[in-house]
Amino acid sequence: MEQQISFGIKSLSSFFKKKSYSSVFVLVDENTKRYCHPLLKNVLPTHQLIIVRSGEANKTILTCEAIWSKMLKNKADRNSLLVNLGGGVITDMGGFCASVFMRGIDFLNVPTSLMAMADAAIGGKTAIDFLSYKNTLGGFKAPVLICIDTVFLTTLPTRELNSGAAEVFKHALLQGKRETSQFLLKTFLSFSEQERQTLIKKSVRYKLKVVMLDPFESNLRKQLNLGHTIGHAIESFFLLQKKTILHGEAVALGLVAEAFLAYRFFKLPFESFLRIVFWYDLNFVKPNLKALDFNVLMKIMQKDKKNTKAQIKLVLLEREGHVLLDSQITKSQLLEGMAFLQAF
Ligand SMILES: NC(=O)c1ccc[n+]([C@@H]2O[C@H](COP(=O)([O-])OP(=O)(O)OC[C@H]3O[C@@H](n4cnc5c(N)ncnc54)[C@H](O)[C@@H]3O)[C@@H](O)[C@H]2O)c1
Ligand SMILES: [Zn+2]
Repeated sequence: MEQQISFGIKSLSSFFKKKSYSSVFVLVDENTKRYCHPLLKNVLPTHQLIIVRSGEANKTILTCEAIWSKMLKNKADRNSLLVNLGGGVITDMGGFCASVFMRGIDFLNVPTSLMAMADAAIGGKTAIDFLSYKNTLGGFKAPVLICIDTVFLTTLPTRELNSGAAEVFKHALLQGKRETSQFLLKTFLSFSEQERQTLIKKSVRYKLKVVMLDPFESNLRKQLNLGHTIGHAIESFFLLQKKTILHGEAVALGLVAEAFLAYRFFKLPFESFLRIVFWYDLNFVKPNLKALDFNVLMKIMQKDKKNTKAQIKLVLLEREGHVLLDSQITKSQLLEGMAFLQAF
């Protein structure tokens, strides 16, 4: 799955010089319409805006119907282009809409949140939620281009920025100590524009490399799930309790808990485990986890088809820069990890 990437919105002019689309549609939510579209509109050819409501709750088939209707009403055809200008909700849902509209039209991702720049907009996974289950409908389809510009981050709320930084740190952990060291000096917010650009570029290139080697997640791509088995269970648990936690905030907790398991039951050096805990403390305010119900968390993790009642398979760090895919953990070991999460 070839994935083209460019840095800086100005690079879009050369893309559009080479292409001729019958019409161009730009998908935004109310925030990216307000803050991001004004920065982008002059580098795009004549286009029509499709505005949807922001938030995961709107990543549904209902919103897709509204998108497709608007496109049809405005004479979209097989040679139209959809530009997804937004966070991961917009890039996931826009990619999905484009991939099935008239058997698939081109789409271009312009990620505006850190989560989308470092993760969601890259890799060719498209998705919407269905019956409240996350990412149940979707497929693999690469955008014709991913255009990344950190200028958009200036209006992104700090909490969203930190959430995205968890994925950037995850990519650093997968690469090695040299990459993770930088994250122990400062919070993502306090990095200069130049430093942010460099970190994001490295992160993006790393994800792209992994995705190109294993586009359909048969093996190597599984490493990108580091921190996500436990993180995802925490995210779902919070949702069930009607409490909010951002995806990256849950992943950050997942990285800590999984680092504990990797140190306690596998070979992760104590120093690396401490570095991960230190990174968490530097960047996040720990939510109250006293009410975490281990049985519910276990049930959520067992739903994953790789896992059985007695054992859960995780991606665990052996050292910074090296993971063990499919590490088996027993229920009691996992409970120890959860208990650590409550206590640290
Ligand atoms: N496809 C993948 O590989 C992949 C990977 C990771 C996450 N995801 C998906 O991404 C989604 C989460 O992405 P997200 O965290 O970007 O959420 P999001 O799209 O909801 O964006 C977060 C919030 O920030 C606002 N926003 C975005 N950019 C802004 C900007 N520049 N200025 C001001 N406000 C801005 C949005 O309107 C929204 O309110 C989830 O649905 C998740 O499943 C997909
Ligand atoms: Zn993630």
